[in-house]
Amino acid sequence: MDRIIIKGGTPLRGSVRISGAKNASLPLLAAGLLCEGTYQLNNIPDLADIHSMIELLKQHGCNVIYQNNMITMDAMNIVNTTAPYDLVRRMRASILVLGPLVGRFGKARVSLPGGCAIGTRPVDIHIQGLQKLGAHIELTEGYIHATAPNGLVGATIAMPVISVTATENLMMAAVLAKGETILVNAAREPEIIDLATALIAMGAHISGAGTDRIMIQGVSQLNGATHTVVSDRIEAATYAIAAIITRGELNLMHTSLDLIPTVSAALESAGAIITPHDTGFTVKATDTPIQGIDVMTEPFPGFATDIQAQMMALMTLCEGASMITETIFENRFMHVPELCRMGANITVHGSSALVRGVPYLSGAPVMATDLRASVSLVLAGLAARGETILNRVYHLDRGYETLEEKLRNCGAHIERRTITTYEAE
Ligand code: UD1
Repeated sequence: MDRIIIKGGTPLRGSVRISGAKNASLPLLAAGLLCEGTYQLNNIPDLADIHSMIELLKQHGCNVIYQNNMITMDAMNIVNTTAPYDLVRRMRASILVLGPLVGRFGKARVSLPGGCAIGTRPVDIHIQGLQKLGAHIELTEGYIHATAPNGLVGATIAMPVISVTATENLMMAAVLAKGETILVNAAREPEIIDLATALIAMGAHISGAGTDRIMIQGVSQLNGATHTVVSDRIEAATYAIAAIITRGELNLMHTSLDLIPTVSAALESAGAIITPHDTGFTVKATDTPIQGIDVMTEPFPGFATDIQAQMMALMTLCEGASMITETIFENRFMHVPELCRMGANITVHGSSALVRGVPYLSGAPVMATDLRASVSLVLAGLAARGETILNRVYHLDRGYETLEEKLRNCGAHIERRTITTYEAE
């Protein structure tokens, strides 16, 4: 078991190469189940969730080689269309194999993911969408059993809630369906565009990805393809906040401001100076205090819920009051008590958190509860006076590639220590 120790107070200065997006890589890997040739993915981040997805694909029968951030795989000999509970409970995004398996093989048995730390997170939209495409669905013994012995048939699917993975699952199911599918009220995240780009490279007919209406003309077969994964906008935004919260300056490379339009606007109104360049952007704190701002989480292009916790860490040190309203998940303020242990002044009222800026945070032992909550505590620790000890670091390993190394290269005092289970309790 590991913990991270941070000695705060050093302004970060230097360059950070932003990795490929975890949330693009996971559906892109699942899409490998659809193609009948060799599939190559570049810029895949080396993260625990990626290894979980590879394990899942291998037990379906895929050949997968992962080296130097590159995946080479084929799905020529699929032996098993079940995604077992043990793997799905470890990573909810395992649900992404449902669409491709039913689409290509006419059957899938995928464990229901259940709730998670940030909310109940149902999968009803995935299931109803597949039913619209003609799949017969039964929910028994904790599993989704989906069958379509004669293949799926295109349909118009109006999704009642904007869901990223449901849009991806239904897009992957529809590419091999007979006829036309129209996804209405589709998610518009950059990861959806990235998935559509890879599917089109395999031979799929898709238009409208990146808008709320995606049109798919089914084809009979998809071929191998090569694709480079889009930059991780959540990681980029996290490092942008790291620059500001430590009153430093970072050059973020291999990314783009276009991926974080609302976040960059919010950071600028707080007083940051953000300058785009050819391969990314620089973020700099000014000498004046960071100003309190109000944000509300929304589907893309709105302010991402995956950046809410990091933004809250920044707000704890802003001048004046800030308000965050979380509209996507019902229980995503678990970092609040931990930030308060470091001296933050935050009051939660239902889905909104009122953050009154304090002059400084104090290092403390804190507990990570989920991926983005964990990194918000790292950000707070980087800015705090004294030492912060972050426990349950495995959450961070799900989503931030070489976090300590990237931060250390910019001057942070951060290290990982392996401890015994006894010490951890
Ligand atoms: C994805 C991201 C996650 C991000 C989230 C919101 C991946 C692997 N994960 O998760 O990091 O926080 O988008 O941007 O890409 N909902 C339903 N029924 C469904 C599906 C979703 O009611 O069948 C609700 C959810 O409970 C939530 C909202 O829709 O309130 C949006 O969730 P969704 O976009 O589906 O999140 P994920 O795709 O699971």
